[in-house]
Amino acid sequence: MAQFWKPGTERPPLLDDEDGGILLYSASSSSSGYGYVSIEKQRQRLPVFKYRTAILYLVETHATTIVVGETGSGKTTQIPQFLKEAGWADGGRVIACTQPRRLAVQAVASRVAEEMGVKLGEEVGYTIRFEDLTDRDSTRIKFLTDGVLLREMMEDPLLTKYSVIMVDEAHERSISTDVLLGLLKKIQRRRPELRLIISSATIEAKSMAAFFHTSKKRRGLGGEDCVPKTEPAILSVEGRGFNVQIFYVEEPVSDYIQAAVSTVMSIHDQEPMGDILVFLTGQDDIDAAVRLLTEEAQSNRKSSSGLVVLPLYSGLSRADQDLVFSPIPRGKRKVVIATNIAETSLTLEGVSYVVDSGFSKQRFYNPISDIENLVVAPISKASARQRAGRAGRVRPGKCYRLYSEEYFVKEMSAEGIPEMQRSNLVSCVIQLKALGIDNILGFDWPASPSPEAMIRALEVLYSLGVLDDDAKLTSPAGFQVAEIPLDPMVSKMILASNQLGCSEEIITIAAILSIQSIWVSVRGQQKDLDEAKLRFAAAEGDHVTFLNVYKGFLQSGKSPKWCNKNFVNYQAMRKVLEIREQLKRIAQRIGIVLKSCESDMQAVRKAVTAGFFANACNLEAFSHNGMYKTIRSTQEVYIHPSSVLFRVNPKWVIYHSLVSTDRQYMRNVISIDPSWLIEAAPHFYQHHQPNSIPH
Ligand code: CDP
Ligand code: MG
Repeated sequence: MAQFWKPGTERPPLLDDEDGGILLYSASSSSSGYGYVSIEKQRQRLPVFKYRTAILYLVETHATTIVVGETGSGKTTQIPQFLKEAGWADGGRVIACTQPRRLAVQAVASRVAEEMGVKLGEEVGYTIRFEDLTDRDSTRIKFLTDGVLLREMMEDPLLTKYSVIMVDEAHERSISTDVLLGLLKKIQRRRPELRLIISSATIEAKSMAAFFHTSKKRRGLGGEDCVPKTEPAILSVEGRGFNVQIFYVEEPVSDYIQAAVSTVMSIHDQEPMGDILVFLTGQDDIDAAVRLLTEEAQSNRKSSSGLVVLPLYSGLSRADQDLVFSPIPRGKRKVVIATNIAETSLTLEGVSYVVDSGFSKQRFYNPISDIENLVVAPISKASARQRAGRAGRVRPGKCYRLYSEEYFVKEMSAEGIPEMQRSNLVSCVIQLKALGIDNILGFDWPASPSPEAMIRALEVLYSLGVLDDDAKLTSPAGFQVAEIPLDPMVSKMILASNQLGCSEEIITIAAILSIQSIWVSVRGQQKDLDEAKLRFAAAEGDHVTFLNVYKGFLQSGKSPKWCNKNFVNYQAMRKVLEIREQLKRIAQRIGIVLKSCESDMQAVRKAVTAGFFANACNLEAFSHNGMYKTIRSTQEVYIHPSSVLFRVNPKWVIYHSLVSTDRQYMRNVISIDPSWLIEAAPHFYQHHQPNSIPH
């Protein structure tokens, strides 16, 4: 490792090491017989414990309290419990704690239920989209995604059942977090008794405080005595991290997956025990690295025996998630290969080595081309420091950065850009409209989105028939679309299916599109998977192929064996059934009649067009390599190899989403007739490309 690695000069702050090397395992390790510490002791050892009184005092006396503390200091799991113990959940009130990520919601809720010795779903519960594990009467602490809390505002605009709302992981600046912060600030004016806690690992606490500091007089509903100070309190929780030594590569690496794998192997060969956390970008990378490490383990028994390699990303099943947090047998070394979910949202105990690829998957939106996609992009210095910090939780650690020190110092940006400023705003705008916020441009944002992106969003919503000439929600279509907890384009597709008589099919498609993938991804068996897909492949495209898979699954009696044989992910199909049931209920509530179009796939394709006309593309006339251009902005795009239309290249297609690697690839593609575009969205196309679409 010596030639490859160059020690860096940057050191994360060295904090006290009073606990010198004590390994705290999670409570579930009690049966494993090593390093067991009672839950109560573990709670008391968390840095946040010393601040219990201070936090409760500040929350009592201030409308908003900002808590900054290193990852793992106990903010998420402890503060809601402190609040409950202090009586904030008495009288039927509820304490809410939001997270940007679904996986984190589930993990922290189950941890807190375990610490409190209660069954998850009763006193402690969680809600994520399409999954509600709370009890109307007994849940006192509720974890939820910030998106779900936004949805709750549609029913209860002042969020009256909550006494305290903790907006956690605020430093991530997810789009929903930012919208939520803006709205909570408004709610505070009407509900002085409501308390907000904004917590995060690193935040420019001052600018957040400035955002919440209002000198305006409150129009409170409560009595004078419950009016708290309006100036936010800031509390910084001193961490308990240890020194982390940083190493950089001498030369830039060309393949970070391979580099990560060899780094893991070198650590395992040369360094004392301690788990390894590797940061890659997404499921594909992670699966590839897991496979390489497993192969390595098989070919080289001696050096890699003793490695337990586990993936961690948001599409994992609950069982696979739990594995990551469970202890492993003594003498083994855990290697967790994760997305940036392990950067701050989740804490893994026992990590002493971090391998940082320097990349993460980020959403980028270009309002000029109106294209949004997920891109593997460099992380910021702030993220790199967070990642390094993960190695120093239990004792001094080491962090191996797969980029050079010069790159870190000179090229990495200091902070990430808030998601609000790099996203398509269609969902965000419709939600605000549904909440009665008419002046979107004048909304008080923690970070203002660009006016171009805003105008694009308004334009798309107008073309979808969701907004009228005054930019107000149309009735009933606009309100119906807002009611469905999906991307407005998907919701519009569902709405259109009502008139086209194919709501059963479209709801199935919407359910499948809302999960990551229905296929089993097995590296090395790509050919078998492709063959399996061919059995279901429909000439119309991926959406219709999904319907074939769904039909096959039902005909098999929802059999796991059938799934196995056909490379269909059984867990994913169960989830599809669940989501489908919920969508059906919502659809019926807003007056959609459930009806099947049987074999009339034209109806299905028209419904997809009604929602996704903005994603229409045309095959370049003389293209030999399958190049398409988006009709909207003539961007070059290609059909993704995973699509059943790959190499088929119909002349006109609509895509569901784009991923960008060496090129822009369309994922989930359906062929259409271009005349449907004009039918579906006359304004949209006539304004932009009057001549390119045949009438
Ligand atoms: O929110 P913050 O990053 O400050 O910390 P936390 O998520 O409340 O975690 C506090 C401690 O709880 C961690 O150090 C872990 O030891 C433990 N924990 C756990 O063992 N399992 C979980 N699923 C979550 C937390
Ligand atoms: Mg946390």
